Amino acid sequence: MNDTAVTTTPDGRTIGGVLMEMKHITLRFGGVEAIKDISFDIREGEIRAIIGPNGAGKSSMLNIISGFYVPQEGEVWFRGVKRPPMKPFQVAKLGIARTFQNIALFDGMSVLDNVMTGRLTHMSSGLFGQALWWGHAQAEEVENRAKVERIIDFLEIQNIRKTPVARLPYGLKKRVELARALAAEPSLLLLDEPMAGMNVEEKEDMSRFILDVNDEFGTTIALIEHDMGVVMDISDRVVVMDYGKKIGDGTPDEVRANQDVIDAYLGVAHD
Ligand SMILES: Nc1ncnc2c1ncn2[C@@H]1O[C@H](COP(=O)(O)OP(=O)(O)O)[C@@H](O)[C@H]1O
Ligand SMILES: [Mg+2]
Repeated sequence: MNDTAVTTTPDGRTIGGVLMEMKHITLRFGGVEAIKDISFDIREGEIRAIIGPNGAGKSSMLNIISGFYVPQEGEVWFRGVKRPPMKPFQVAKLGIARTFQNIALFDGMSVLDNVMTGRLTHMSSGLFGQALWWGHAQAEEVENRAKVERIIDFLEIQNIRKTPVARLPYGLKKRVELARALAAEPSLLLLDEPMAGMNVEEKEDMSRFILDVNDEFGTTIALIEHDMGVVMDISDRVVVMDYGKKIGDGTPDEVRANQDVIDAYLGVAHD
């Protein structure tokens, strides 16, 4: 398949050309090679899973995409252009949003205010702008609110919009984090273990929301997930990492049949 080929999935969704390409990425922490010469791509509109045992380097890979880490070797390409080293806020401005493996919300603030912080990358009026050009800032505020309210409705958290995040159960906090990431209207959404620690029902809800986000907003999604049932159900293609190396890459069926993947990862969980 070439970089611009458009394909249709078995469930009728359209997958476009290559959106993001990681080329020969190597990342070291002191003497530890967390990522060793890994290449893979993410295509427009797809749900791309990254799986592998703990310590494989999955979060580090998402941290490279989101600008938190800069690899010692390799290139990051986005929309056909090689990306220079960037800070996370610069990556956010490109339309890449993320959630964290450990929830990172403002505990004392309401759900609504937390989700509003996701709009920050879109706000042109700074404090001075707001003082000097009140009308413009007000219009922007109204527009931001409307977008945030739409996302809150979409993720079915209207009834808790005024609740401080600290009071919410874990599963709902994860959903608020998703809402905040979506508030940035990303073209690429990175989810680091969005279902970790959830019960079966919460996982089903989150799976459905991820599929709905992809379907409704056309958002490309890269997610790290341990639950193989979920991965097989919702992802179009899967990258498998083990000890910093890529050991598999393909459709869920291809990856499931890959002997290296079975030996390193699946065999343990599915015997
Ligand atoms: N900031 C860091 N400093 C030092 N070592 C790190 C850092 N982040 C990750 N590592 C190391 O890199 C390896 C991969 O970690 P990580 O990307 O978190 O794996 P995963 O998400 O697959 O569990 C581990 O050995 C981890 O200890
Ligand atoms: Mg991790």
